[in-house]
Amino acid sequence: MKDFSGSHGGISGYGSFVPEKILTNEDLSKMVDTSDEWITTRTGIKRRHITTDEETTAYLATEASRRALSKAGLKANDLELIIVATITPEMVFPSTACFVQKELGAKNAFAFDIGAACSGFIYGLSIVQQFIENGNLNNALVIGAETLTKITNWKDRKSCILFGDGAGAVVVERCDDGRGILYSTMHSNGTRWKALNCQAYGSRHPSDKELDEPNKIYMEISGREVYQQAIRRIIECIKSCLAECELKLDDISMVISHQMNARILESVMKRLKLPAEKMYMNIAEYGNTSSASVPIAFDECIRNGKINRGDIVIFVAFGAGLTWGATLIKF
Ligand code: UT7
Repeated sequence: MKDFSGSHGGISGYGSFVPEKILTNEDLSKMVDTSDEWITTRTGIKRRHITTDEETTAYLATEASRRALSKAGLKANDLELIIVATITPEMVFPSTACFVQKELGAKNAFAFDIGAACSGFIYGLSIVQQFIENGNLNNALVIGAETLTKITNWKDRKSCILFGDGAGAVVVERCDDGRGILYSTMHSNGTRWKALNCQAYGSRHPSDKELDEPNKIYMEISGREVYQQAIRRIIECIKSCLAECELKLDDISMVISHQMNARILESVMKRLKLPAEKMYMNIAEYGNTSSASVPIAFDECIRNGKINRGDIVIFVAFGAGLTWGATLIKF
């Protein structure tokens, strides 16, 4: 392994929160022309947790954050930075991160959102890595939180079966014992923005003008178009982590990928010859929760004893933008 001496951002706390309400494939088959069999074989999804009208993105984010802070033993007062990765913010502005700051009472932190869709949590970790390594911050809270079902078109069977709601958070603190966020790689390709988008609410569609297409208030996805890209980019990112950190696949305890489709992850495992026990999958329970999926999976892995202190873990994601990236940590 490459020499990573010096200060890094170590993950000291972790937590997640998903709404109680569940929507099963059977429920969906009563809403659109689909079936449990189609959804299960094409995506691996069985159920997803969905918010009620009262449950908002900041609410989920705050609950996940409380758990992460408690694990870290850090007081909200001591937080220096709060980043929320989301494409389903509390409102157009202010940022969801400011709502979380208010709820936590983290009055000494500065707070902002990042919009990198499913890769948002990875981008967030990378930002914090820079702040900590260059000595400007001692700690940060990074959250992935989404209420995708609030912008889902429940009449579109191609997309409505995919998404769920939830939040995951980590507390990152300066540490000098070789642990922490050791490597990040991030990429974007804006020429393919149409593959996954939600067009209303922005400056292209001024609020005093009627939408030319009413469905622009919903997420629109060209699943087929991104499917192959996702496999290719996830593999590239994992290989980049290994090469840049001078590690082999055997050195990695777990790959935690964004949960977009079980078939995509199975394909990655097959092509990399990665054993199934090293590719965590929980998509059956939650569906695709965009930026929240990696931190939710990470929290679950630790609670289930699948990741232990000192383990080397790769987080990897691909999504709208297009965006993709990976982070290698020593936990
Ligand atoms: O996190 C980033 C966002 N995530 C993604 O973009 C997900 C990536 N893509 C995927 O996971 C897959 O492409 C999907 C699960 C979205 C779709 O699977 P697919 O194997 O690529 O299906 P397809 O879109 O090629 O559709 C195959 C057939 C079509 O019928 P015809 O044209 O062959 O008659 C669809 O109309 O399946 C039909 N279909 C459905 N049938 C039953 C599409 N959605 C459904 C459905 N139930 N829910």
